[in-house]
Amino acid sequence: MKVAVLGAAGGIGQALSLLLKLDLPAGTDLALYDLAPVTPGVAVDLSHIPTAVKVTGYGKEDLHTALAGADIVMIPAGMPRKPGMDRSDLFNINAGVVKTLAEAIVQQCPKALVGIITNPVNTTVAIAADVFKKAGTYDPRRLFGVTTLDVIRAETFIGELKGKNPTEVTVPVIGGHSGTTILPLLSQVAGVSFSDDEVASLTHRIQNAGTEVVEAKAGGGSATLSMGQAAARFCISLIKGLQGEKVTEYAYVEGNGEYARFFAQPITLGKNGVEALLPIGTLSGYEQKAMNDMLGTLKADISLGEEFVKNN
Ligand code: NAD
Ligand code: LMR
Repeated sequence: MKVAVLGAAGGIGQALSLLLKLDLPAGTDLALYDLAPVTPGVAVDLSHIPTAVKVTGYGKEDLHTALAGADIVMIPAGMPRKPGMDRSDLFNINAGVVKTLAEAIVQQCPKALVGIITNPVNTTVAIAADVFKKAGTYDPRRLFGVTTLDVIRAETFIGELKGKNPTEVTVPVIGGHSGTTILPLLSQVAGVSFSDDEVASLTHRIQNAGTEVVEAKAGGGSATLSMGQAAARFCISLIKGLQGEKVTEYAYVEGNGEYARFFAQPITLGKNGVEALLPIGTLSGYEQKAMNDMLGTLKADISLGEEFVKNN
């Protein structure tokens, strides 16, 4: 098994690579790629940790070698937000980054499972999908926008509010990955109930949690450590799926188009990536209204990505 991390020298990339060095199955190759000259050094540093995962670092010119034969590609490459920015403000820079990396995936590992972390996720996933489509290699079961951070944040905040161990809280979060497109389904959280005020304030906090970190870091970037953990959890679930285990996760995927072309929803992972799209269940009146209100934004974010590939 080979896992490639693109953007591996960044804040997320380094945290993710560390967790993968610790948690990937013995015998896995972990290939780290980044434009930053420090990347081979990050790989040497990680290689001194005593696990049976072989880490190799690749610099600017070696993207194709890093990707050759990869089974899974995780992409946290690109610019993070600063205070006052929306995720959509990253589009101008990150659209091109994702397009370039997706084109290399087409050539080196067209059957890899690809997890996109680069923002704006609502749009960058559409870019990767349409690059693959243009090349004739697109398989919607193999492309994921990583929205696991929304899920783990929701679990943490509910655990804090209700005095529960967050590892025992499960929260569905559907839709997309920015602002109101992030829709936690608090009515479906087992074993707890919420007042109307709690639903409104928790929903708002989960939707704005990225901004909470961006403001707290005061110009020093966005979430990296929690995202590293979220991405590692998602990557390990992809691995378990490839190994034949059935695992349920939430991710932003191209499903049956019932709500939007791409939509974060529960999925079962298996040997080919998405094995089954699971239903989102019954929504409360509050959630249904929030869903109706945000679908226009989500669809516009997706169109932006589709137009970018059409025109570039
Ligand atoms: P960072 O600046 O710390 O790291 C980004 C890395 O990408 C840098 O090392 C940079 O050299 C590298 N890079 C840039 N262009 C590249 C290219 N063409 N090829 C390879 N590497 C390239 O940023 P970060 O905090 O790690 O965030 C990375 C991205 O992840 C941002 O777009 C951010 O908004 C996004 N993000 C997404 C989520 C999510 O939930 N999906 C959460 C947090 C951050
Ligand atoms: C997050 O949710 O933390 C990320 O999408 C980064 C950001 O810009 O908020």
